[in-house]
Parts: sequence; C-alpha cells; structure tokens
Amino acid sequence: MSESQKDKKPILLSGIQPSGHLALGNYVGAMRNWVNLQEDYLGIFIVVDMHAITVRQKPADLRNRCLSFAAQYLAAGIDPEENIIFIQSHVPQHAELAWILNCYTYMGELNRMTQFKDKSKRHNDNINAGLYSYPALMAADILLYQSDLVPVGADQKQHLELTRDIANRFNNTYSPTFKVPKPFIPKAGARIMSLQEPEKKMSKSDSNANNYIALLDPPDVLRRKIKRAVTDSAREITPDSLQNPGIGNLLTIFSTLNDLDVNEVVNRFAGQQYSVFKGELADSLVAFLEPFQQRYNKIMDEKGYLTSILDESAQRARYMASKTLSKVYRKIGFVAPGRPR
Ligand code: TRP
Repeated sequence: MSESQKDKKPILLSGIQPSGHLALGNYVGAMRNWVNLQEDYLGIFIVVDMHAITVRQKPADLRNRCLSFAAQYLAAGIDPEENIIFIQSHVPQHAELAWILNCYTYMGELNRMTQFKDKSKRHNDNINAGLYSYPALMAADILLYQSDLVPVGADQKQHLELTRDIANRFNNTYSPTFKVPKPFIPKAGARIMSLQEPEKKMSKSDSNANNYIALLDPPDVLRRKIKRAVTDSAREITPDSLQNPGIGNLLTIFSTLNDLDVNEVVNRFAGQQYSVFKGELADSLVAFLEPFQQRYNKIMDEKGYLTSILDESAQRARYMASKTLSKVYRKIGFVAPGRPR
C-alpha cells in the first residue's frame, strides 16, 4: 500500500504498559482486536514505557520487556508494514504535549480517577506526581495522532472520557485542533478472569504468577496452571457450571481459544469430569500458544529486524506527532523557534 493510501485510513491507537507479562487476558481483550481491525485502520501500537515508570521498575527488566512486548505484538499478527509499532520514549512529543495538557486538566478531574486511587493504595510508599497526572500523558498519546478509535477495557474508559473532555476544552478555547476520539468496546467481550481468584480480572502484573496465563509460559507451566485453577466442589460440567466464577472462566477460555459459543462448550463437556475438561483445555492452550511462541522466538533471534521496525515506526510517529504539536504551540502563543516576531 502506498503512503498516501495508508494515511487515508482512520487511525486506531492503543498502548500497553511494559510491566509484568503479557497474558491471555491482554490477547483476548486487546491484541486480538488490533489484529482483526488492521485491515480497516492504520494501527498505532505503543509500548508505553513512560507510563510504566509511574510505578518503580527494575531498569534491566524494563528494557527487556519493551523489546519483548513489541515482539509479541508482531507474533500476535500485527503487520509491521501496515502499522506503526514503537516505544513511547522514542517519540519526545509525548512528553511535550503531556506537559501542555497538564495545564488544561483540572485537579478535580484527576482526583476522580479510580486507577489513581487503586494504584496509590497498592503503592502507598510511592504516590508520585506522575502517577497522578498519568491521564494527561495518556491523552497526549491519543491526541498527538488525531486518533479516531481507541480500543480500551472497562478500566480505561474513565481515562478516555477525560481525554475527550481535554480535547473538547482545548478545541473550544482555541479552534479545532484535536480529533475527539471514540472508545472501541469490543463486541462479545469475553472477560478473562484470574485463575486463582476468578472474581477479579486476569492481570499481567499480578504478584501471583498462578493467577495469569502468560503468552510466553512454556507448555508444562501452562498445564500446571490449568490443573491448579480453582473450580468448585462439584466434579463434573453441567449447565450450572457457567454460574461458578472459576469453572465458568475456564469454559470461557476454552470457548475463546476454539472460537465457540460458551454454551456449545458446556454442551460438549456436559457430564464430563473437571479433570477431563481441564486436560482438553490445557491441550487447546498449548496448541494455541506454541505457534505464537515460535514466531516470537524467531523475531527475538533477529534483533536487528525488530530494532529496524521500531526505529522506522518511531520516525513516522515523530513526523505525525510533530505536526499536531506545532499546531498546539502556535495556538497557545508559543513563539516559533528561529522566527521571533
Ligand atoms: N493507561 C493504559 C493502561 O494502563 C495504557 C495506555 C497508555 C493507553 N496510553 C494509552 C491505552 C493510549 C490506550 C491508548 O492500560
């Protein structure tokens, strides 16, 4: 596809923080949709390392995870020729616009953000200003590229609403500058829950690794995690199994991996022992993740290839972002460098 054709597609933008391990929940909730939407949108997929440091990270781990996450985007089927995949800190315009947007975001708005409240409880030894103003950085990520669509999970809807408010506020104060993005809420939103505590969402940063299925877990680990996943005291699958959070979640995972309706899965296994179902679930999971992991390993063996994709994408991103940023600078009254008048 030519550059000009690509530029005409509407823009879909999303980001994942390089913390923890990409998990099945990320694949089902986010990455799978990116892959499915790439025909119709120009995808901008960002590894948001600047967001990740709002919580303390080990430098070596952060560095490795940025590359590993980008390689997993590719292994999941994002076509690097058709999309833009980069590391946030490679594009300085994110930090620059975030500062400006901080000045158009009210403390009253930030005080209402539930993710800030949750994270400050969990990391109460490090409630830093970055954690607080993080939504302004996320707004910058989105607004820099005049994004049309932002696929987000329920936990990010509030941040996207705030992004829309900030964009409208800026546009109304000056003149139309930012496209006001729409949220994309996936249909049939199968929510993947934690394996040990199925009342909560599967989180890639859970301190207990038995709670999530990492996309890079080797087969023996996958089998062990499924075996240990909590169920209930019944022993076999019945239509009621869907009401139980633990076994219901495993049925959902099976249905997602095999592209089946969850009721079909219940019919297929009705009357079977949990252990039999879990064995088949583990087989499906291994069959699903093995080719993904092979593609991942191949990409990681060719670091030069990955680096060149990230570099070229960052270059394109800087070009797109600088167009928006210079408009913003002009509208708020900053003097253009080299042309003091
Ligand atoms: N805040 C998001 C999260 O914690 C990650 C994120 C950062 C993001 N920038 C974004 C998501 C832009 C969508 C668009 O999951």
